[in-house]
Amino acid sequence: MDLMEYQAKELFALHGVPVLPGETVEVAEAARGVAERIGKPVVVKAQVKTGGRGKAGGVQLADTPDEAVAKAEHILGLDIKGHVVHKVLVTEASDIDVEYYVSFLLDRSNRSYLAMASAEGGMEIEQLAVQRPEALARIAVDPLAGCDEAKAREIVEAARIPADVADEVTRILLAMWQVFVQEEATLVEINPLCRTPDGRIVALDGKVTLDDNAEFRHRDVFASYADVVAADDLEGRAKAKGLNYVKLDGQVGIIGNGAGLVMSTLDVVAYAGEGHGGVKPANFLDIGGGASAQVMADGLEIILSDPDVRSVFVNVFGGITACDAVANGIVQALRMLGETATKPLVVRLDGNNVEEGRRILAEADHPLVTIVDTMDGAAAKAAELAAGAA
Ligand SMILES: Nc1ncnc2c1ncn2[C@@H]1O[C@H](COP(=O)(O)OP(=O)(O)O)[C@@H](O)[C@H]1O
Ligand SMILES: [Mg+2]
Repeated sequence: MDLMEYQAKELFALHGVPVLPGETVEVAEAARGVAERIGKPVVVKAQVKTGGRGKAGGVQLADTPDEAVAKAEHILGLDIKGHVVHKVLVTEASDIDVEYYVSFLLDRSNRSYLAMASAEGGMEIEQLAVQRPEALARIAVDPLAGCDEAKAREIVEAARIPADVADEVTRILLAMWQVFVQEEATLVEINPLCRTPDGRIVALDGKVTLDDNAEFRHRDVFASYADVVAADDLEGRAKAKGLNYVKLDGQVGIIGNGAGLVMSTLDVVAYAGEGHGGVKPANFLDIGGGASAQVMADGLEIILSDPDVRSVFVNVFGGITACDAVANGIVQALRMLGETATKPLVVRLDGNNVEEGRRILAEADHPLVTIVDTMDGAAAKAAELAAGAA
């Protein structure tokens, strides 16, 4: 389970990672009281489970309580990469001298843990990792030995964190390791870990992913941080309907049955999209084995309400649920959606009873539906339609 920043910071505080005082609010006016209690300039921060909030306008400085209310008003309701903001953290603003990056994560491919750290943290860390990978230290952490003081010092040195703050950053890494181990996390990240002009070190952001497999040992933490499903959040809505949906940032909506098929559909669409101005998949959606009309309608409804989607690729392989049942599902789903279905659909069916499935779709002759026989052909068509609708 991914935690929001304020939840991550609660765990930080519990284990001795320094954070600044703050409180969350869900109505803008309540930001006034928090800003007054803090008694200093504050930062109003969108609480959504996605990075890049700063760049999306979801992190804003407010010098006065009045301004905090105005900033909260602006940020609440903002859509950040498909996540609608329902909560903001109002927290003390810090002067920043330098921003560091530090994290511990599960390194599945090496069956180990990994620490990553850099003296050049901040909002450009992804770019740094690609363009100057040598500036981002990667240190393996043996799962049996864990991160002791010597290991923490090794990380600090490899990251080229200056000597005058090395002791404090070492201490913080050890506290982060306690969060990682005691809370059973698969990721604990601080970016930025800020150095203030007067030499203090404080976590200005926090990202924690708890290991779902360990939930039974942390029932209270999981219960208190459980997602309150947001009515207008695409992923939240999909979850409430039991759909296996992940929002991505492209333009071609994807529906398929079976995670493997959907993953390869994302690949062929991304590949086809290169020939059409770089259009990309807008989501992952696996409707599973029994592609009933209701599941198809639920899936289509979620995808069509994504403002970034310009075309939809329905890629279904008929198995236990044969193609004719899927075709009927699509036809009925479109009927259920009525006028809310406004974007072109490319359908590729194959497998059990494919001829009958294609016949049903052809007969229904829905103006938005194009039937394409091959997966590559359908991907190309969906990409072309998405590019054309731009
Ligand atoms: N409490 C704060 N005081 C001052 N600046 C902050 C504070 N919190 C965040 N910032 C600034 O905003 C940037 C983005 O905030 P951050 O919490 O890292 O969100 P995200 O990583 O989602 O963009 C940080 O890199 C930092 O420069
Ligand atoms: Mg950050």
